[in-house]
Amino acid sequence: MTLVYVSNEENLVSASEAIKKGDLIAVPTETVYGLAADATNDLAVAKIFAAKGRPQFNPLISHYADMAMMRDDVVLSDLALELGQEFWPGPLTLIVPKTPQSRLSHLVTAGLDTAGVRVPDNDFTRALIRKIGVPLAAPSANKSGSLSPTTAKHVAESLGDAVDMIIADAKAKIGLESTILDLSGDVPTLLRHGYITFETLQKRVGNLRDGTQYLAEDGTKQPKSPGLLLKHYAPKKPLRLNVTQPEPHQAFLQFGVMMGLKNHPQPVLNLSEQGDLTQAAANLFAMLHELDASTATEIAVAPVPDMGLGVAINDRLRRAAS
Ligand code: TXA
Ligand code: MG
Repeated sequence: MTLVYVSNEENLVSASEAIKKGDLIAVPTETVYGLAADATNDLAVAKIFAAKGRPQFNPLISHYADMAMMRDDVVLSDLALELGQEFWPGPLTLIVPKTPQSRLSHLVTAGLDTAGVRVPDNDFTRALIRKIGVPLAAPSANKSGSLSPTTAKHVAESLGDAVDMIIADAKAKIGLESTILDLSGDVPTLLRHGYITFETLQKRVGNLRDGTQYLAEDGTKQPKSPGLLLKHYAPKKPLRLNVTQPEPHQAFLQFGVMMGLKNHPQPVLNLSEQGDLTQAAANLFAMLHELDASTATEIAVAPVPDMGLGVAINDRLRRAAS
């Protein structure tokens, strides 16, 4: 059974050590408890998806101690800075472009060139982020498909041993995930409703689009299921799936031990020689980016078993190939 720790100075040190070595920690925020890992560590982020049992890789929100700390990783426009001044720390997530030198893991952003960022309103969690000096990736600390946790007890009941450490603080006062505002396009777009309302944001932003509804093909407005309209990473080169023997013009993304590729003329990378799906998830977007930047004209990908995290990997590969 995972131990629950109180949010004091001593446990701040233990928590920071745990994060540095790539563990998962449930941390309090004002919205819901988050399942946190070092947002710059691909393998730690992959563990989040494994622990939640999510069948898909949605991009995750990265949590910072303050706005100054975001500067290296994302580009904050004047509007983003104004909104940050007004609402942070607090329940607002902004989708903004990544910087070229961004430290964020490719898995955190699901391969996209934008990132979701916010400053949570919880003293312990901000102190932890300040101490480790890196942002924390954190979705809600529950198994996929179950209710978002507002107490440490909820977290323990939902995740059990899938989380290495749980930090208990007061009940999450808002109890609802943060409002998400996408500032990366031409028109600011609300992607998720939350405590900070559409009307409140509209007053600050002027022209605000409601991206929580989308127009179906028959012209009717449909509620958007989470992640449905989400842009997904697509490589520039065509992707071929379930390839066991790549052709000479194809870069190759292997999985597990594969034979007979000694003199392949294009780059060959391996998601995981050990056939470990968590490691494969950690490498997926970074390796696709690398092969996409090579001189090969196509990328071939070896079969990945459709189990555990392999389900999410195959889902992303199919989207990237289509
Ligand atoms: O209140 C909250 O926001 C909680 C607490 C723990 O802070 N966190 C949370 O995180 O709900 P998460 O990672 O589950 O939110 C992920 C959602 C995605 O499903 C997507 O809607 C949006 O954030 N998102 C993140 N990055 C994005 C991006 N680059 N582009 C578009 N949407 C993005
Ligand atoms: Mg959730």
